[in-house]
Amino acid sequence: MGKDKLKKFAENKTFRCLVQPEFDEIFGKDHPLKGRWHADFFRNDRPIVLELGCGKGEYTVALAADDPARNYIGVDIKGARMWRGAKTATEQGMDNVGFLRTRIEFITSFFAPGEVSELWITFPDPQLKTRRAKKRLTAPPFLACYAQLLAPGGWINLKTDSQHLYRYTGEVIRRCGLRCAVSNPDIYGTGYADKVLSIKTAYEQMFLDRGLPITYTRFTLDDTVRFDWFDWEEDDKLKCEKDCEEARRK
Ligand SMILES: C[S@@+](CC[C@H](N)C(=O)[O-])C[C@H]1O[C@@H](n2cnc3c(N)ncnc32)[C@H](O)[C@@H]1O
Repeated sequence: MGKDKLKKFAENKTFRCLVQPEFDEIFGKDHPLKGRWHADFFRNDRPIVLELGCGKGEYTVALAADDPARNYIGVDIKGARMWRGAKTATEQGMDNVGFLRTRIEFITSFFAPGEVSELWITFPDPQLKTRRAKKRLTAPPFLACYAQLLAPGGWINLKTDSQHLYRYTGEVIRRCGLRCAVSNPDIYGTGYADKVLSIKTAYEQMFLDRGLPITYTRFTLDDTVRFDWFDWEEDDKLKCEKDCEEARRK
C-alpha cells in the first residue's frame, strides 16, 4: 500500500467526524450508534441526510455548509477517499457533518427506522453487467433496505451520467409503483440544475469533461413494503449498448 494511503488511514483515526466500525462491531448485531446519531453523535435533533457512495464527500460537505439546519453523513467503503471530506469538515469545524465507513449492504445495522430523512446517491457504479444488476444502488433489494431507515416521504435523489442506470431506476420506480417527483435526462442542458444540483463531485466533473449529460431522479418510497426483483429486458443488451461506454471510459 502506498505511503500516501497509509498516511490518510492514520489521519482518519484522528477525525471525530469519521466513524470506522470494526467488523465485529456489526457482525450479526447492530452498531451502538443505531437510533443514537442525534443523541450521541450530532448532539442535536436536526434531520439526518445520507450520501451513499460519497467518495470524497463533496456533496456531504457542500450540502452541510449550505444547510446548517440538517445533519449530513457520507457513507463509503473507501477510507482514503473519505479522508478528503473528513479533513475538510474537521478543518472547517463543521458540526453537522459525519462520515461512516461501511458497505452500504450493512446500512440497516447503523440506522433505526425513520432515523434518516433523505438520501443522496451520487454517481454510483452503474453495474452494467446483467449478473451485477443486484449491486445497483437503486435495485429493489437496496430500496428494501432504505425503506427500513427512511422517514415517511423521505426523498431519494440519484445523480448519474449512466443512461442505463437512469432508465433502470425509472423502471424500478414504475414497477414498484413509487412516487417520482423529477426525472430529468440532462440537468445542465435543460437549465434545471439549481444551486444544490450544481454541486459537482469528482466523478461528475470527469463525466462533464467528456461531454456526457448528467441525469437526476428524485423519488420516494412512501409506505411501499414490497420491492420485488425483476429481470429487465433492457439488461439483455450488450454492455457496450447500455451506455456510451466508450465515452464514459475515455
Ligand atoms: C464511482 S464512485 C463515486 C464517488 C462520488 N459519489 C463521486 O461522485 O465522486 C462510487 C463510490 O461508491 C463506493 N461504493 C460502491 N459500492 C459500495 C458499497 N456497496 N458500499 C459502500 N461504498 C460503495 C465506492 O467506494 C466509490 O467511492
